[in-house]
Amino acid sequence: MRSDANIAGPMTDPVPGPRTESAGEDVSRETPPPMDDTPIGRAAQLAVEALGRAGEGLPRPEQTRVMVVANQKGGVGKTTTTVNLAASLALHGARVLVIDLDPQGNASTALGIDHHAEVPSIYDVLVESKPLSEVVQPVTDVEGLFCAPATIDLAGAEIELVSLVARESRLQKAIQGYEQPLDYILIDCPPSLGLLTVNALVAGAEVLIPIQCEYYALEGLGQLLRNVDLVRGHLNPELHVSTILLTMYDGRTRLASQVADEVRSHFGGEVLRTSIPRSVRISEAPSYGQTVLTYDPGSSGSLSYLEAAREIALRGVGVQYDPQHPHIAGQNTQQEQQSMSEGRSE
Ligand SMILES: Nc1ncnc2c1ncn2[C@@H]1O[C@H](COP(=O)(O)OP(=O)(O)O)[C@@H](O)[C@H]1O
Ligand SMILES: [Mg+2]
Repeated sequence: MRSDANIAGPMTDPVPGPRTESAGEDVSRETPPPMDDTPIGRAAQLAVEALGRAGEGLPRPEQTRVMVVANQKGGVGKTTTTVNLAASLALHGARVLVIDLDPQGNASTALGIDHHAEVPSIYDVLVESKPLSEVVQPVTDVEGLFCAPATIDLAGAEIELVSLVARESRLQKAIQGYEQPLDYILIDCPPSLGLLTVNALVAGAEVLIPIQCEYYALEGLGQLLRNVDLVRGHLNPELHVSTILLTMYDGRTRLASQVADEVRSHFGGEVLRTSIPRSVRISEAPSYGQTVLTYDPGSSGSLSYLEAAREIALRGVGVQYDPQHPHIAGQNTQQEQQSMSEGRSE
């Protein structure tokens, strides 16, 4: 982690005035941190606490949790969520692998991983049956975080896979053959429901759907959910939507809270209580080959992803998440005792 990182981070709104409801890529303003009236000092304090809490560790899953980050809509925050959640979980002490399954390679870029055409990549794993261990690279900034990069070759894989044996389960097989111990595998899917996404849905038990708090948030989700049902029925009986994360939440617009209400009433318990605010820092970080966790650890975006990671880790072991209190107090399950920060012997 960078030692010169700006812990406080800008929390103020550089664009005063009424909020518009314009959607999309407009990331020209920072939204307040999760607690609306939080001044910068409090945010810095929270960052320190959050990162300190990382030292305490979180419960480790008993088995590797493979989470498929999917939504066939582009620009909803799949890649951003994959890399920042992965970094958060790693900072909380977990060993985490990000599999970049989008030919754009945005997750690889955001993790500072070289992915020019000659780099061994997930394409070689899927199409050439190369072992996953031969393409995985460590992420330099964050201990315990690894990435299987995507190169532009992957753009052809949707078609090349069609004629291959067991075309839907090639990623699953590669993961099963990967012997390094891992707590989490996060798979960043492309914005489509083709064979690459199907491979991810066959490989993982959990689907994580990021939903952008804008108009038409739920549009198209029916098709994703139907595909999840199909894959569960035919290829992967364990598959289920475990997690919905609201992204680019702007607490000052009525639209955002309406969308959030709608998503919560539609999905209920799967929706994380933590939502991710719209944050300039989040959108800036990838151009430095970093996650927001190292780019600006005290920013609202960084804190939210740390908190979302905590919630996901606790849910995974059936511990109720309480946003007000550190989870350790009063909990005494077996998994709690074997926390992620204890380290491993390998
Ligand atoms: N919370 C956020 N605040 C501001 N910008 C965001 C946020 N999440 C994502 N973005 C930006 O929105 C764009 C789309 O996000 P991305 O994660 O690439 O979506 P997807 O992978 O679903 O296509 C990117 O430019 C990204 O930097
Ligand atoms: Mg993406």
